[in-house]
Amino acid sequence: MDDYLPWAAQCAGTAFLASSLCVAALGAVLLLVRRWPWCSCHVCRAYLTGSWARDFANLGDWYAHLLRDSPTATVHVHVLGCTVTANPANVEYMLRTNFDNFPKGAAFAALLGDLLGRGIFNVDGGAWRHQRKMASLELGSVAVRSYAYKIIAQEVEACLLPVLADAAGTGAVIDLQDVFRRFAFDTICKISFGLDPGCLDRDMPMSELADAFDTATRLCAMRGAAASPLLWRAKRLLNVGSERQLRKAIKLVDELAAAMIRERRKLGVAGSHDLLSRFMASSAENNAADDDDTYLRDIVVSFLLAGRDTVSSALTTLFMLLSKNPAVAAAMRAEAAGGGDDPVTYDRLKGLHYTHAALYENMRLFPPVQFDSKFCAGDDVLPDGTYVAGGTRVTYHPYAMGRMPRIWGADHDAFRPDRWLTGPGGAFAPESLYRYPVFQAGLRVCLGKELAVTEMKAVAVAVVRAFDVEVVGEGGSAACAPKFVPGLTASISGGLPVRIRRVRN
Ligand code: HEM
Repeated sequence: MDDYLPWAAQCAGTAFLASSLCVAALGAVLLLVRRWPWCSCHVCRAYLTGSWARDFANLGDWYAHLLRDSPTATVHVHVLGCTVTANPANVEYMLRTNFDNFPKGAAFAALLGDLLGRGIFNVDGGAWRHQRKMASLELGSVAVRSYAYKIIAQEVEACLLPVLADAAGTGAVIDLQDVFRRFAFDTICKISFGLDPGCLDRDMPMSELADAFDTATRLCAMRGAAASPLLWRAKRLLNVGSERQLRKAIKLVDELAAAMIRERRKLGVAGSHDLLSRFMASSAENNAADDDDTYLRDIVVSFLLAGRDTVSSALTTLFMLLSKNPAVAAAMRAEAAGGGDDPVTYDRLKGLHYTHAALYENMRLFPPVQFDSKFCAGDDVLPDGTYVAGGTRVTYHPYAMGRMPRIWGADHDAFRPDRWLTGPGGAFAPESLYRYPVFQAGLRVCLGKELAVTEMKAVAVAVVRAFDVEVVGEGGSAACAPKFVPGLTASISGGLPVRIRRVRN
């Protein structure tokens, strides 16, 4: 009898758990059936069946095709409850004129909330305004800018160029995307936290944080691509599949971010110019409640997201395009050669208009953030006449916008840096950010734009001066249609295999 009781209790427990799971699963199915917006229009059918993939390498190419065909440059994907636009007037309306009606919204905050917490990317209203004010003060300060440039220049000279020189010496094929991701990760960690993960050391160690961060951003992006949020919510509730993996990755990110914050506290923040120290110091001065570890953890994660994959994505596609357009690489080399062989200073970097134009032209065709969504709070009508119901999503699509003949003319698919050199004396002339929202635009325009452009220019100039980069394998063919991995920032599936040669002077 004594043995029988625990056995019976165990059976009853298992039966209870199994029936709870069945009820939860049934509830999820019923909710799905009730709330999933069915639609059989050709766009929704192609989205749901994946038939778009027969004709297009990437979802973004399919959207670009649909948006080019649309008289208003706006389409609806009903099953996603989403309006997608490539119309600059609509973009300006969402990001500036009627900004308050297009917040990130609760749905977006839920998608990324487990990873980003209450960091600047994931909040609206007062919490966003407060962090934006602090971040723009820090990123705009002369002290932080010159500290950042010093880090970038050191990282290029001491880490990036030696890795490329090794590859040139051995003739080995290397994955340039991986090299740039390591470079960008080390650089943003040093600028943001004053700590060096050493990913670009000669033996190319794997960083646990970089790895966990990759997994977490990829799985969060998968949540966003699901036809209904109920799918990932049910998986999260049951802690199964991709949601279980995501929880594990976020736990690791949390532990490593906490270690970073502890280390920073131990080293002391006085006199340090990295962003975390500056946030810690000014939070402590202004508002003691801000100095808590969760707030600082969210800042750490936001800056990693902001500054790592964006920069490496743009550098990767730039060298892919240069490999196919050697005349552009030669023109960049000639421009940089003007100042002799010494490393290019910050001031001289600013005057390199052709290189600046090549970078912008690259990001027109391959923006690191290919699309960005806002939540329409109340019913609205966009400037092109499109009605948007309150509670639905509106996505503006920089990748498609860079491929619109009505914005860029008939040669929109040509890589032509000189289209940007229309200022006095052939100087770089910026385009309206609403036509080129690569760094977003309006009230939430990217705060790291100047820093990112400086970093990318410094890398581009140093690499083209010393090396020829040739893309090999399928990516090396004349066609320039990389396949991207779905994610928050664009990365090329399979990486970018290249062969490096020293430039003969
Ligand atoms: C090529 C490089 C970069 C690109 C293309 C880029 C693009 C963007 C885009 C599209 C957004 C809007 C995201 C959204 O609201 O969902 C954004 C926001 C932001 N970016 Fe960047 N970014 C780059 C580099 C950086 C760097 C290096 C930093 C900082 C070190 C940075 C800091 C920020 C911050 C703090 C925001 C949030 C602004 C706000 O919500 O008010 N970015 N960026």
